[in-house]
Amino acid sequence: MITEMTTYLSEQQKLIEEHLERLIARLEGPERLRASMIYSLQAGGKRLRPILLLAVIDALGKNCEWGLDAACSLEMLHTYSLIHDDLPAMDNDDLRRGKPTNHIEFDEATAILAGDALLTYSFECLARASALSSETKIKLIQMLAKAAGPEGMVGGQMNDLQAEGQQITLSELESVHRRKTGRLLTYAIVAGAVIGEATCQQLAALEAFSDHLGMAFQIKDDILDVEGDEALLGKPVGSDETNQKSTYPGLLTLEGAKEAMQTHYLSALSFLEKAHVNGTRLEALTRYIIERTV
Ligand code: IPE
Ligand code: IPE
Ligand code: MG
Ligand code: MG
Ligand code: MG
Repeated sequence: MITEMTTYLSEQQKLIEEHLERLIARLEGPERLRASMIYSLQAGGKRLRPILLLAVIDALGKNCEWGLDAACSLEMLHTYSLIHDDLPAMDNDDLRRGKPTNHIEFDEATAILAGDALLTYSFECLARASALSSETKIKLIQMLAKAAGPEGMVGGQMNDLQAEGQQITLSELESVHRRKTGRLLTYAIVAGAVIGEATCQQLAALEAFSDHLGMAFQIKDDILDVEGDEALLGKPVGSDETNQKSTYPGLLTLEGAKEAMQTHYLSALSFLEKAHVNGTRLEALTRYIIERTV
């Protein structure tokens, strides 16, 4: 089971990384900016968002190559969010994907600009996606902007910073997690569903699935920040405590956080069944997300 998943992940990572390289090759601009973008993009990472997007298309029985541009565009946007998340003004971390963070390797101004550039280039790549109709692309561009912007990831990041050192309620914390992390994962799933021509019922079930998946993903991230292995994770452990972050283990204890993650995992599985895509790679990926050590 574990080896099957490992093989699948590395095959998909290769597919995504080769396409990312093609997209980067056509990129023009100041050499230092390009180097900084490429540094973070090629630093590794699990590539879970693009893999999930492609896995949904596959689960719907369609050709996952239709989703490659959208998948890579999402990975670029996610990488931008990591570069900015690590900045001294935000989480002030010095290790990411097993390498010095972008602002340590380059400098703060370059890291800010590399993030800006990956964010905007992400939308350019999506708009140019060759396998998708204009109608589909406009839908995806709108969805991605909403998921990444003030109502989604950026808004969640704002509230995450405001919650540092504060006592917040579980429902407030759930709202932060849902936006700072969940919304981009929801985009990965729903974009895959749109490209894979899901029915209305499947789309609704997959969206509900993704909400639970996103919550389980960030709760696991909080858990790994407490009990993970820095060498495996490739990012600092204990960063949340240093920054007095509001987290699931902080609010519910480690045991409580694990129970909450399990509840979201089981709900996620039930919606996969409703979407008639249980027993697929998507289900195995969902399990991997809660069992992962990286
Ligand atoms: C880390 O995401 C940031 C969060 C939203 C918690 P990942 O754990 O997917 O990081 P990479 O892409 O594998 O580096
Ligand atoms: C940040 O969550 C999620 C993003 C939008 C990047 P974290 O701050 O917990 O992510 P890590 O632990 O640094 O990867
Ligand atoms: Mg953060
Ligand atoms: Mg962080
Ligand atoms: Mg974290």
